[in-house]
Amino acid sequence: MRLDTKHIGKFIKLKELDPIAEEVKDAHTMLEKGTGPGSDYLGWVHLPSATKKTDLSRIVDTASSIRDRSEAFIVIGIGGSYLGSRAGIEFLSPDYQRKSCRVYFAGNNLDPNYLHNLIDEIGDREISVNVISKSGTTTEPAVAFRILKSLMKKRYAPKELKKRIVFTTTKGKGALSSMSKKEGYPCFYIPENVGGRFSVLTAVGLLPMSVAEVDIKSLMKGAADMESACKSPDIKKNLPYRYAALRSLLYRNGKKIEIISSFHVGLFFVLEWFKQLFAESEGKDGKGLFPTTAVYSTDLHSIGQLIQEGERNIFETFLKIGKKEHDIKIPRTKDNVDNLNYLSGKGLDFINQMAYKGTAMAHADGNVPNMAITIDERSAYCLGELIYFLERAVGVSGYLLRINPFDQPGVEAYKKNMFRLLGKPV
Ligand code: PA5
Repeated sequence: MRLDTKHIGKFIKLKELDPIAEEVKDAHTMLEKGTGPGSDYLGWVHLPSATKKTDLSRIVDTASSIRDRSEAFIVIGIGGSYLGSRAGIEFLSPDYQRKSCRVYFAGNNLDPNYLHNLIDEIGDREISVNVISKSGTTTEPAVAFRILKSLMKKRYAPKELKKRIVFTTTKGKGALSSMSKKEGYPCFYIPENVGGRFSVLTAVGLLPMSVAEVDIKSLMKGAADMESACKSPDIKKNLPYRYAALRSLLYRNGKKIEIISSFHVGLFFVLEWFKQLFAESEGKDGKGLFPTTAVYSTDLHSIGQLIQEGERNIFETFLKIGKKEHDIKIPRTKDNVDNLNYLSGKGLDFINQMAYKGTAMAHADGNVPNMAITIDERSAYCLGELIYFLERAVGVSGYLLRINPFDQPGVEAYKKNMFRLLGKPV
């Protein structure tokens, strides 16, 4: 992986990094020794190296039996219980939806049209579901599961249901754990000390990805290699820490919004996961960078104007893929009626890269500092590296903000009102 900071130099001088480098070292100690806020939720820090081969094999075996008996596999979950697996599946298995067992996502909203259309599309296909909720009490997935379960009960005998419903939750806590005990559904347990948005490298993210034939062993290897690359607290040697230090300095210099963008459409849900990880971790105590996402070049024709010339309170982090995959050459035409012959023989990938370079330069010229995180290629290994890179970066970045990056008390506010309006018994 690489972190390209060429378009930051004009905004941050090297010596400005010295004091923050010391703060990063303190943050590193807090993560490693568990001496900072939220230390009960540091299970993710050594999760990649601590995950046993047998745990991964159980996930792979369950995924394969789900695939064998299903034409529609529905992942029910929201926030950290859903975005990571969707990111992995959409990035690494884009052709998966053409295969015999399709993956669907439910329980991430309360829109009846969404669930109606999903049920309609599934029709009489053979279904399996994975209900994912760390707390086992979240309304959106609970409601979706109740609806889908009643549909499945009409089709399958109780014995068959036990092969088609899998839970991922906390042992001994919440409705899913007790339902699994009472009704006998198989269960994967999420370690107590791994919070929702940091749980993508547990069964939360790994089981759905494995059903979609993502190589989860290679994903975990990438994450474990990034974990060992993070041993040094030195921002010169530790890429996630350098990224955390730079974004924190930019924030302290008035850049309050981070646009996480990419010229690769397949990264759309990776950007969404990235956004959630940082927003829910950092936005508290009246502080925090506001992360938003953009996929280019389409969004250059949407928010591009604002980025170039709007209020100068933004910086940008591009997510890039180093190795070219598929390419399509621009054909030459005799009449050149569209005046595109100057591009003939060139690949779309080259044009896309020039669009990136032109945009990065233009944004820097327009006083939008920008940097680029590049993964080597579209592969499970590289996604694993990236996931751990970003987890480590947000842990340090949160500590640089002097907040607890591992809780999310603000998420409760809307729920309280909603439950009161719905008349939930107290
Ligand atoms: O990161 C988090 O903790 C949240 O985004 C949760 O993942 C989300 O609220 C879903 O919670 P649960 O898994 O308990 O249903």
